[in-house]
Amino acid sequence: MYSRFKIAKKYIHYWLTASNGKGHGIHSPFVFDFIKNVLNDSTNYPCYQSIEGIRKKMLGNKNIIEVEDFGAGSSVIKTKKRMVKDIAASSLKPKKYAQLLYRMVKYYKPQSVIELGTSFGISSAYLASANESAEVNTCEGDSSIASIANKNFETLHLKNIQLIQGDFAKTLPQLLSKLKAVDFAFIDGNHRKLPTLAYFNQLLASSIATTIFVFDDVHWSSEMEDAWEQIKKHTATTLTIDLFFIGIVFINPNFKIPQHFTIRF
Ligand SMILES: C[S@@+](CC[C@H](N)C(=O)[O-])C[C@H]1O[C@@H](n2cnc3c(N)ncnc32)[C@H](O)[C@@H]1O
Repeated sequence: MYSRFKIAKKYIHYWLTASNGKGHGIHSPFVFDFIKNVLNDSTNYPCYQSIEGIRKKMLGNKNIIEVEDFGAGSSVIKTKKRMVKDIAASSLKPKKYAQLLYRMVKYYKPQSVIELGTSFGISSAYLASANESAEVNTCEGDSSIASIANKNFETLHLKNIQLIQGDFAKTLPQLLSKLKAVDFAFIDGNHRKLPTLAYFNQLLASSIATTIFVFDDVHWSSEMEDAWEQIKKHTATTLTIDLFFIGIVFINPNFKIPQHFTIRF
């Protein structure tokens, strides 16, 4: 993982060089539409408040749980006993990005949604709330964390979400073998190069032309930046949008020449 200083430097570079977030000078009608109707949709949707209420509860929860070390995301705190509030503070996607996921699902209406990395279920809750007819499968390795997430889904009365507990290496192939196709995938766990590329390839095998992939923290480490570059260059990739803290990938072959955008958000 890069130091905070290095990430701040990279973020400043991103901010200064990215296209402005209003869509000026964007020649792709699809991306222009995305900016106008998804990225910049400032509606305060009703579920935002209830999900953020759960995040607040997690951020104030001083219970200590035993957690297993999965992936590269736990490098902030290495001990196995951790306070719920510390995990919440270091691993949950900030509301700005979690709510963008909500708007993407609301707008593009994927039916089959996969999330790798549930944690306490905040981003999962946004994904599931965006389209009640969508089926959200979210994967989490740690059993204590998973059980808190399941309680949060109950509190929010979310019926279209299923949590699959276990290492992605096992659970993802099992899950994919049961699904007809994946329409939307949020990859937010195990921030290492080879696993990230492996998840992309596995998900690609179950994708359709309109499948959307969202990768978390694509500038978090040199491994993740390498993975992101390879994903951008992949023959299946036809359009990418880099928002610094997340990278979005489209594979629709109708976007004939691959295009890569970096947009301020
Ligand atoms: C960054 S957190 C997810 C945050 C969540 N998406 C949110 O924003 O609300 C990543 C989660 O992935 C889990 N994880 C990481 N690597 C994993 C693996 N190989 N198998 C299963 N779970 C894993 C971790 O236990 C952690 O809870």
